[in-house]
Amino acid sequence: MTLPTLDPARPSRPPRELAGIARAVADQPDLWLPRITFDTAHRWYERLVDAADHEVWLLTWLPGQGTEIHDHGGSSGAFAVVRGELTERSFAPAGRRSQPSPWALPTGALRAFGPHHVHEVTNRGGEAVVSIHAYSPALTTMSYYRHAPDGLLELVSTEPVDEEGGRR
Ligand SMILES: [Fe+2]
Repeated sequence: MTLPTLDPARPSRPPRELAGIARAVADQPDLWLPRITFDTAHRWYERLVDAADHEVWLLTWLPGQGTEIHDHGGSSGAFAVVRGELTERSFAPAGRRSQPSPWALPTGALRAFGPHHVHEVTNRGGEAVVSIHAYSPALTTMSYYRHAPDGLLELVSTEPVDEEGGRR
């Protein structure tokens, strides 16, 4: 088991606390309902909270929209689905084999993950999805992967996450 790096310059919260933060924001629709936007070109996102030791983002997903396979650059995270249903596939780290099954995350679902989590999240349903995501420390880089036919993850690229949220 690998423990997260404790960097005093980047204070962090553990996944269970991020789950509590994502749930608390999800339970306050006044914070995010008026901001919801859908974009037919790509997933839409906006930062709701920019705190010293975590950040919270609002994401929307139209049918068919989703992420590539990615990690979170060493940040832990959690997300709450507040409308619709997302599907997650979680992968073994690069260099190890996995054939992950899709996991349904319906309205009300709450997921938390540690700093080495690699996943793909997609809207495979027919209705628009809204979700609340918390990360700690704030995202600075994300790596993107290809899932080879033999089950191995291959690193494609590592990219900085800009103020607008990169490709999260
Ligand atoms: Fe993610």
